[in-house]
Amino acid sequence: MKSIIDQAGHGALVKGGHDDRAAQDFAFTLRNFVTSELMPANRIVYDRRAGPRHARQTGAPATTPQQVRAAMGADSWYKFYVSARRTSQELIWSSVIPAVEAAAPAAAPASAGGTLTLAEDFVPPRYIAAIDIHCMPGGYCADRGPGDTAAGAVYDRGVYLYMSGLMGPMNDAVGQLAARWLKSRLPDFAPATILDLGCGVGHSTLAYAPAYPGAVLHGLDCGAALLRYGHARAESLGVPVHFQQGDAEHTPYADASFDLVTSHIVLHETSTRALPAILKECHRLLKPGGVMLHIDQPRFDDSDPYATFLQENETYYNNEPFWRQYRRIDLAAVAEAAGFAADAIETDVLTAAVVQQSQNNEKVAAESAAARKRGFSVLLARKSA
Ligand SMILES: C[S@@+](CC[C@H](N)C(=O)[O-])C[C@H]1O[C@@H](n2cnc3c(N)ncnc32)[C@H](O)[C@@H]1O
Repeated sequence: MKSIIDQAGHGALVKGGHDDRAAQDFAFTLRNFVTSELMPANRIVYDRRAGPRHARQTGAPATTPQQVRAAMGADSWYKFYVSARRTSQELIWSSVIPAVEAAAPAAAPASAGGTLTLAEDFVPPRYIAAIDIHCMPGGYCADRGPGDTAAGAVYDRGVYLYMSGLMGPMNDAVGQLAARWLKSRLPDFAPATILDLGCGVGHSTLAYAPAYPGAVLHGLDCGAALLRYGHARAESLGVPVHFQQGDAEHTPYADASFDLVTSHIVLHETSTRALPAILKECHRLLKPGGVMLHIDQPRFDDSDPYATFLQENETYYNNEPFWRQYRRIDLAAVAEAAGFAADAIETDVLTAAVVQQSQNNEKVAAESAAARKRGFSVLLARKSA
């Protein structure tokens, strides 16, 4: 098991003092216990007790995620599990917040050459502002005014705990995975300008610096405090990034500004109306021959109603309202409607331990069909030259 001390330090990170770290260690360990021990036990409860009871009562085994939910919802073990999981999620944030409250806001040393541009009177989209996604208090857009970096500091430390350290010491496993896959898929593609939509504090954005040395990196997000923190973080790490506040549905950049437009674990947090608009915006922003790359949660496998039921808990208990619908959307069809030619669109699944940990935690052989259903899904599309 990884440990909270494995998160790599940088000029903006707030870990807190001894008592903070003791609380974070407890939250981290509890979270691991919930996902590694309690979560897989649901399968045993379902197979041996809840499923057979449902079949006896209804005269047929459960065949849909809704029926599995009805069967499990009546079981005392499952009620305990969802309560423990929700509590562990809330503890993650509450173990991180006191140190951030006590710390001075992160300041950018302004050494790497990146920039920060905040929009005046910016109104974030309702699907982000109306709810604290994955229960992070205040959500992505909490902003206490000029200089505030708290949402970024809470997110950076909190995500490390949330994902049990499996995002790597820099919380950048998804960016690394996507950049590596893109380089192997398009070895001759050498983008000079890259835009990362929904960049947050830049965890994934910065992974493109070593992958494409010399490329000019841009990151756009809704959250002002996330961006201030991301700017300070990138500067302290010596990576120039141009951070911009904005909405990925209608960004402030001119047509054909970028060679590569990416997003990492963003689309599942948007909405059924916003997602097609974001892909259209990507098409507008790309130069001819440019590439769009999105990496996010895998699609639901409808042949396994139990797995779908368990994953849909993110919507039921973790403030992820769009998670359920997102995973049923045919992204390739949406990309085609956004203007990309059908033969210039491809999808793939990239296996990753962090997906297994956060969703099923069943042990599956690497490279098996089951493992491939547990990866991140990738959507790549190239704009006509
Ligand atoms: C789960 S975080 C991922 C952050 C980052 N991409 C990463 O890999 O660490 C999702 C981010 O998407 C941002 N986001 C969601 N919808 C957005 C939109 N319409 N425009 C800009 N940012 C958005 C949120 O503010 C949040 O920072």
